[in-house]
Amino acid sequence: MVRERWASKLGFMLAAMGSAVGLGNIWRFSYVAGENGGGAFLLLYLGFVFIIGIPVLLAEFSIGRQGQGDVVGSYQNLAPNKPWFLAGFVGVGSAFLILGFYSVVAGWSLFYFWNYINGTFWSIPESGYEATFGALIANNYTPLLWHGLFMVLTIIVVLTGVKKGIELANKIFMPMLAILLIILAVYSVTLDGAMEGLAFLFKPDWSILTDPSVYLAALGQAFFSLSIGMGAMMTYGSYLSKEESLPSATIGIGIMDSVFAIVAGIAIFPAVFAFGISPSSGPSLVFITLPGIFAEMPFGNIVGIIFFLLLVIASLSSSISMLEVPVAYFMRKFNWSRKFTSVFVGSIMFVLGVCVSLGMGVWSGVTPIGDKNILDSMDFVASNIFLPLGGLAIALFVGWHWKKEEAFAASDMKDNLLGNVWLGLVKYVAPIFIIVIFLQSSGLLEW
Ligand code: PHE
Ligand code: NA
Repeated sequence: MVRERWASKLGFMLAAMGSAVGLGNIWRFSYVAGENGGGAFLLLYLGFVFIIGIPVLLAEFSIGRQGQGDVVGSYQNLAPNKPWFLAGFVGVGSAFLILGFYSVVAGWSLFYFWNYINGTFWSIPESGYEATFGALIANNYTPLLWHGLFMVLTIIVVLTGVKKGIELANKIFMPMLAILLIILAVYSVTLDGAMEGLAFLFKPDWSILTDPSVYLAALGQAFFSLSIGMGAMMTYGSYLSKEESLPSATIGIGIMDSVFAIVAGIAIFPAVFAFGISPSSGPSLVFITLPGIFAEMPFGNIVGIIFFLLLVIASLSSSISMLEVPVAYFMRKFNWSRKFTSVFVGSIMFVLGVCVSLGMGVWSGVTPIGDKNILDSMDFVASNIFLPLGGLAIALFVGWHWKKEEAFAASDMKDNLLGNVWLGLVKYVAPIFIIVIFLQSSGLLEW
């Protein structure tokens, strides 16, 4: 079977950017930054993006394009009869776990969009947005409907083939989301008490760095936001032909993804402080903060409609890249059709999401890890452990399994300063950091 291909270089860029930019930049970045003290976390996260994330992203693209397979198959093609492909299963596992809760959160966004269309959110609900949101997600049925709808949308795009719809959607809607976020940020900064929010985000409180869990959280956020370690970018890279040049695409994606997160932070934290919301509110943070901004700003209702529509589209271009990981694997492995595989795998993820959603309500007593509910547990295992593990395998494969010349050829890098810096980061720095952070946060290594 001839491997599917992107229609153009732009198509690949847009799809990969679409994968990167999503709920991770807005929803997850703000609440994780809020829980981990703000400024110091931001610096740590950005540091990890540049010394680990971007180098590993290039490595992941390179394995995919060179291996010409799904996340398991690429390794098998490049290193037959070696255990590297096992890393692919970690990626498939993280796709199930992450899309399981991602589509629930995207479902909340879809429901907000609907509430802005039908006018329910045009005025502040009597009990306030916080209680309204809390009641929404604790409900046994409504969130499942929206989660299901989002999953259906994801399945439809994946079963028609990732290329068609998404190139166009990302060309138009992503720039719109960027512009809207900038407008929100500018408005948010004018709120009373905005300075406190900016100080929280940009004035590091270094004392938080004595807490090992902050490093793991920043590492997980860097991986999650850049879509690395799962094999989504590997799979996308495998649809690329040899003519394209990877390094510039990689840097562009890394910078753009980080800018989205920072701008989202500037939009959200001033409002968090202006409205007296706790920055450590967890996953509900943006859902209780944003409507407050829209309620106060001119044309807020329309802005609310457009914002949540764009957020759903950005989530969709991420969720399809996640579903594509197991779909590409199962299609090849069992020789199933794309249609059947998408529906089959998507349905399993829907069921996982049902558990996540009930975990916000009737099953809130179910805490698989420590005191974390189902969503937080799945997120923790997938984002903070599986993705970095997948990234570790990618880094070790490119840095140690490949010869220097192979690594340069596969990544379009040259044996010059830049190339050697990249290879050094992939070969030594990324693995050492990941391992040390794992050891330190598991308590095996103390300082
Ligand atoms: N990067 C996406 C986001 O920020 C999420 C994602 C993670 C997508 C892993 C694919 C793989 O929303
Ligand atoms: Na992201």
